[in-house]
Amino acid sequence: MCGIVGYVGARPALSIVLDGLRRLEYRGYDSAGVAMIGDGALLTCKRAGKLGNLEKALTEGAADDVTAGIALGTTGIGHTRWATHGGPTDRNAHPHRSTNGRVAVIHNGIIENFARLRAELEAAGVEFVSDTDTECAAHLLEHELASVRAEETARSASPSGGARGAEPSAGLAAAMRRVCQRLEGAFTLLAVDVDTPDVVVGARRNSPLVVGRGQGENYLASDVSAFIEHTRDAVELGQDQVVLITPDRIEITDFDGNEAIGKDFHVDWDASAAEKGGYDYFMLKEIAEQPRAVADTLRGRLGEAGELMLDEMRITEQDLRDVDKIFIVACGTAYHAGLVAKYAIEHWTRIPCEVELASEFRYRDPVLDRSTLVVAISQSGETMDTLMALRHAKEQKARVLAICNTNGSTIPRESDAVLYTHAGPEVAVASTKAFLTQLVACYLVGLHLAQVRGVKYADEVGAVLTQLQAMPAAIEQVLETMEPVRELGRELARARSVLFIGRHVGYPVALEGALKLKELAYMHAEGFAAGELKHGPIALIDEGCPVICVVPSPVGRAVLHDKVMSNIQEVRARGARTIVIAERGDEAVRPYADHLIEVPPTPTLLTPLVTTVPLQVLACEIATARGHDVDQPRNLAKSVTVE
Ligand code: M6R
Repeated sequence: MCGIVGYVGARPALSIVLDGLRRLEYRGYDSAGVAMIGDGALLTCKRAGKLGNLEKALTEGAADDVTAGIALGTTGIGHTRWATHGGPTDRNAHPHRSTNGRVAVIHNGIIENFARLRAELEAAGVEFVSDTDTECAAHLLEHELASVRAEETARSASPSGGARGAEPSAGLAAAMRRVCQRLEGAFTLLAVDVDTPDVVVGARRNSPLVVGRGQGENYLASDVSAFIEHTRDAVELGQDQVVLITPDRIEITDFDGNEAIGKDFHVDWDASAAEKGGYDYFMLKEIAEQPRAVADTLRGRLGEAGELMLDEMRITEQDLRDVDKIFIVACGTAYHAGLVAKYAIEHWTRIPCEVELASEFRYRDPVLDRSTLVVAISQSGETMDTLMALRHAKEQKARVLAICNTNGSTIPRESDAVLYTHAGPEVAVASTKAFLTQLVACYLVGLHLAQVRGVKYADEVGAVLTQLQAMPAAIEQVLETMEPVRELGRELARARSVLFIGRHVGYPVALEGALKLKELAYMHAEGFAAGELKHGPIALIDEGCPVICVVPSPVGRAVLHDKVMSNIQEVRARGARTIVIAERGDEAVRPYADHLIEVPPTPTLLTPLVTTVPLQVLACEIATARGHDVDQPRNLAKSVTVE
């Protein structure tokens, strides 16, 4: 949600900012804008709709002063807005300027006390030109900047304080700190001020912001993909911090002005990883990358003594041994990964494990204490619901372990332990490779706990690891046999509704298949636990209704397999068209499948790593056949940074 880019250096800022915004498009947005300081003026251009509209406006206005000035700027900020307060119009698009026009602000998040602030500003005579909460911040910044400068002038004029005035560029950061202290809610703010032309100031509370460290230039952005083609050296900011960048300085303070140190990190993927690489859609590329992503997430996990290793560990082994309850909190696809994890973690560790939608967790007053382990799963590491659940858990003294794909993001930074999924950047809104790598990470967490607590011997852990090592090749095999699935997808594009059923770990796979179809094809789709059908949902089945059945291996748990077979017959008896995903060689299902999709034989707990893939391909194909953009489905944002 909302993409933010800031640049200060010697090169023309406009193209750098626009390129950065293009790389952040995946986050989801409905208007875009830029502000540049060029030729001694602060100039803005903003448009509703996609970036193309903004670029068209900039091109069409090439001859006017505004656009000419914008092109000259070497300091600039840019924004893609996902509307919250006020519709997606030119007027509400960011940047927003203060009344005197000398300050421009962009914002991601929600300023919760904006109504009060707006009333106060209006009472003081400020005229608002938009419906946004952000505009308050622009006006407050102008006001605070004037105060900071007046105080500075008074100080330098006084006989005792005048010898050494504050660095002029520091005024904007000082004013920003004061503004932040007045704001409630979640925000990342960037601001430029025409009187300090080589400065961009940023602030963050609960919303993402990272610094890119260049040579004679620096960047600020919602995530590293915005500046990855210029630098892979980044600085992670903490909660409630203000950062000032100039071409050769990065200064970080907390909201009180105390110096703070950002955490440097190097991004281990390059710009090509964030390109489509010859595919029509990022989603297709990301589906194809899954064998590699799974292999990368497994790589280097064994220590010298055969112990499993996470990426960051600030929880002692004794604390892990003391864990008596696990909660997994996550949203959407990550929640489905958590549902699979429950089966594996309970089976391997014998610790009770609950899976909760992060958005519900803290509101129901869960029972947590220092022997509870909360596992937060998030691709982006910025999902607000998950972050708030994590914070609630920490307040109750629980330990938090993050499974995350994004280095430098908030959720891993606030966790006691981190396991990174090495999926590489996931750009398509619909999560694919992140899901499979989250599953792998969950298996690793389960094995790690089992090992530390002594409920599994090293050779048992090693045996599961060997099975996991075989999964990239198994996923590759699935991908190689997807043509009939694509054909089926084109046929199903006319369906009104599609149902998904599964049992055990096949149940979350059914939920995930349905979610993919909903979000991409805008089609009614629902996943059910196969055993629940007879308690109500079976009434939905009528002649020709497509039902996708995820069948467990007949080898691992024969009883499960046979139960799902019965459920398939129940829906067939009511006219359903059955599309069956089953293990290769499972001849028993063949007579009951109108369409059979075979996957390689896989140990029961690991089957979601192969059974999910055809469902991703199917949803993608149905959506494409229905004419939808699968990378940016309507109404959705990749990174959901509001509650
Ligand atoms: O970044 P996160 O993993 O925390 O995101 C959670 C969900 O918003 C995300 O999985 C969402 O459901 C996807 N669009 C599903 O494809």
